[in-house]
Amino acid sequence: MNDGEIACRQLVKTYNLGQPNEFIALKGIDLEIKEADLISIIGPSGSGKSTLLNLISCLDTPTKGDVFIEGTAISTLNGFERARLRREKLGFVFQQFNLIRSMTSFENIELPMRFEGISTGERHKRVEELLSLVGLEDKAGNRPTELSGGQQQRVAIARALANNPKIILADEPTGNLDTEAGKKIMDLLIKLNKEEKKTVIVVTHDPRIAKAADKTVKIQDGRII
Ligand SMILES: Nc1ncnc2c1ncn2[C@@H]1O[C@H](COP(=O)(O)OP(=O)(O)O)[C@@H](O)[C@H]1O
Ligand SMILES: [Mg+2]
Repeated sequence: MNDGEIACRQLVKTYNLGQPNEFIALKGIDLEIKEADLISIIGPSGSGKSTLLNLISCLDTPTKGDVFIEGTAISTLNGFERARLRREKLGFVFQQFNLIRSMTSFENIELPMRFEGISTGERHKRVEELLSLVGLEDKAGNRPTELSGGQQQRVAIARALANNPKIILADEPTGNLDTEAGKKIMDLLIKLNKEEKKTVIVVTHDPRIAKAADKTVKIQDGRII
């Protein structure tokens, strides 16, 4: 029934703004995403892109329909199982970076592995690998305030990769970056897809991503067009 790594079936999301007002943000989304696909999601502001990403991320639950990840219907999971799926299979990159300000790059990247109970030696080896992957070997000891926006986002990407998830979700990851820094982030996401075979789903209008993408999903007014 579900061949892809991720499938959205008849997804509807309604926000209740106090009865009788309600707002239908997604109006029946069907989407199939295969393993190691690079998917770009585009569409005007307010069209439902973040809402869709939040549903695929299991951050939010649909009003109707379901999201399947590797054949598992998210609606059948309890909160604990959902959290585990998020930790093990998904990595998140946000527009605002969301790094912990009191922690160094090294500590931010290491944090998800602490929650998984990975040994100190293994954690440290992995952090070094990830710092090198994102080209920040020399910034291990710096806190977010000591980094540029682009560098912070590279730390955030390394953190998203800490537990080696198969799927990376990024919502306008270059929204707060200048063109040059944004280019580096997009190139890094493309590299993760092409070389590390990650499934990458990114909300962006970046032409480089559009060019490299297996599929571009255009959303308008809560529908795929
Ligand atoms: N928590 C919420 N409560 C009410 N309306 C919301 C909420 N979140 C989003 N919306 C509305 O849903 C629509 C889609 O939002 P969103 O998915 O964030 O759009 P996009 O990411 O494409 O800009 C918008 O009209 C927005 O105002
Ligand atoms: Mg958005």
